[in-house]
Amino acid sequence: MSKQFDVIVIGGGPGGYIGAIRAAQLGMSVACIDEWKNSKGAAALGGTCTNIGCIPSKALLQSSEYFEHANKHFAEHGITATGVSMDVAKMVARKDTVVKQNNDGIQYLLKKNKVSFFHGRGSFVKAVDGGYEIKVAGMAEETLVGKQIIVATGSNARALPGTPFDEEMILSNDGALRIGVVPKRLGLIGSGVIGLEMGSVWRRLGSDVTILEGLPTFLGAVDEQIAKEAYKAFVKQGLKVELGVKVGEIKAGKKGVSVAWTNAKGEAQTLDVDKLIVSIGRIPNTIGLNAEAVGLKLDERGAVVVDDECRASLPGVWAVGDVVRGPMLAHKAEEEGVAVAERIAGQHGHVNFNTIPWVIYTSPEIAWVGQTEQQLKAAGRAYKAGTFPFSANGRARALGDTTGMVKMLADATTDEILGVHIVGPMASELIAECVVAMEFRASSEDIARICHAHPSLSEATKEAALAVEKRTLNL
Ligand code: FAD
Ligand code: NAI
Repeated sequence: MSKQFDVIVIGGGPGGYIGAIRAAQLGMSVACIDEWKNSKGAAALGGTCTNIGCIPSKALLQSSEYFEHANKHFAEHGITATGVSMDVAKMVARKDTVVKQNNDGIQYLLKKNKVSFFHGRGSFVKAVDGGYEIKVAGMAEETLVGKQIIVATGSNARALPGTPFDEEMILSNDGALRIGVVPKRLGLIGSGVIGLEMGSVWRRLGSDVTILEGLPTFLGAVDEQIAKEAYKAFVKQGLKVELGVKVGEIKAGKKGVSVAWTNAKGEAQTLDVDKLIVSIGRIPNTIGLNAEAVGLKLDERGAVVVDDECRASLPGVWAVGDVVRGPMLAHKAEEEGVAVAERIAGQHGHVNFNTIPWVIYTSPEIAWVGQTEQQLKAAGRAYKAGTFPFSANGRARALGDTTGMVKMLADATTDEILGVHIVGPMASELIAECVVAMEFRASSEDIARICHAHPSLSEATKEAALAVEKRTLNL
């Protein structure tokens, strides 16, 4: 006899487990199926984000930043720290502990919310009266029937054609988070989010890091002024970023990897490194879902085709997160999971795609929400811009971290904030105020008139808002 549920969620990453919890909160009986295993073969809930994405990368970024501070910046504060060294194995073990705490936390949350968890691969069997039959293939086989199905199967790293990941020499984000010894020379293909975050970790620990980027512009999706400022800072730190390259043959041996590439001038080059991380984007994951059994429509990339409200091509089937269109971000996946659960319950779940923040956790951090200056120009929208540098902010000076700026873009007529772009210290936290402001359709004058604590980095946001009307007080 199959187990019956109102909702079956396939995938236990941020889209899946959050959607499952919300559905349970709304009174539905919910199952969540996830196949992730840790090194001991046990369930490890949280998906890419928790296991090989957001959480472990931020743990390594934090450890490596402390190391860099101790080595390079403590002296400015009068602190003598000699013989500072990094025990990479300990750093990686700490990262694994942080991951495990999150895995366990999610397992606890599912239990607390009475979500039934099944460890194994979930796949469609057939449509049945009033729902779908789903097989769980894992430690024990189970057959479940759900009235509504939420597909939240995430994404996988994209490999270069003809160069599969071996996770020893040619690494995806998975292997990149498990490097056990600081590589003398590290190569990365792709200067996107992973390239910059992982490149920063290993540069701080002493690797000679070279990033080969196919596009002629650095961080093309980021506001140009902010991207330029970030590029300057990264190059000054010692990251080598080659733009407009064409990657050719890659040969991996036991001792290293050799990458043939052509630079922007068309000159043939070779990059010899100890390890190579390939971070050229991710592809939606529908492997093993058996979508064809029920005729679930996928696009040419393998993504589940959904409408604006995450409805897939079949009645009662929804999909959220990396496996559908839109930015591949944990918080976007979560918002979609919540909205779908609410829609299933007959409520009006909503995700505002205009106010999804982006953060790159390098140093300086880069964060933004809304439109860039180049997008506004391309759309022919009349706008005003205000910028304020952290070098004029008292808190940033006290921190000893004055790189970067806050830039605010507002409609020329209505003054509504259209975008905020930050490069600098704690940009990841500062952006939250700007997201709230945009959700409430605030004007730049609103931010300029709100009292911000002194001394705080958030005063730079207020000053950028004042700068929109050319009336900064501290510059
Ligand atoms: P996933 O997290 O990928 O979860 C999908 C889950 O479904 C997995 O556990 C998988 O095993 C399971 N699954 C797949 N198929 C089946 C099946 N048939 N049956 C059962 N289970 C199945 N985003 C941010 O917002 N901030 C960050 O700082 C950030 N850092 C990142 C760093 C790295 C290195 C990487 C790779 C990604 C990062 N991301 C970050 C992106 C973020 O991880 C993803 O956007 C997010 O995990 C997507 O959530 P999801 O629920 O859609 O999918
Ligand atoms: P990305 O899309 O951010 O960057 C990929 C880069 O590789 C691009 O600049 C692209 O031009 C380049 N590229 C593509 N093909 C190439 C080729 N053949 N040769 C050279 N360069 C090439 O993808 P990335 O870094 O792999 O990250 C995947 C996704 O994971 C991100 O888009 C993001 O959604 C998510 N992520 C989010 C993080 C965050 O929010 N802080 C951190 C890390 C990942």
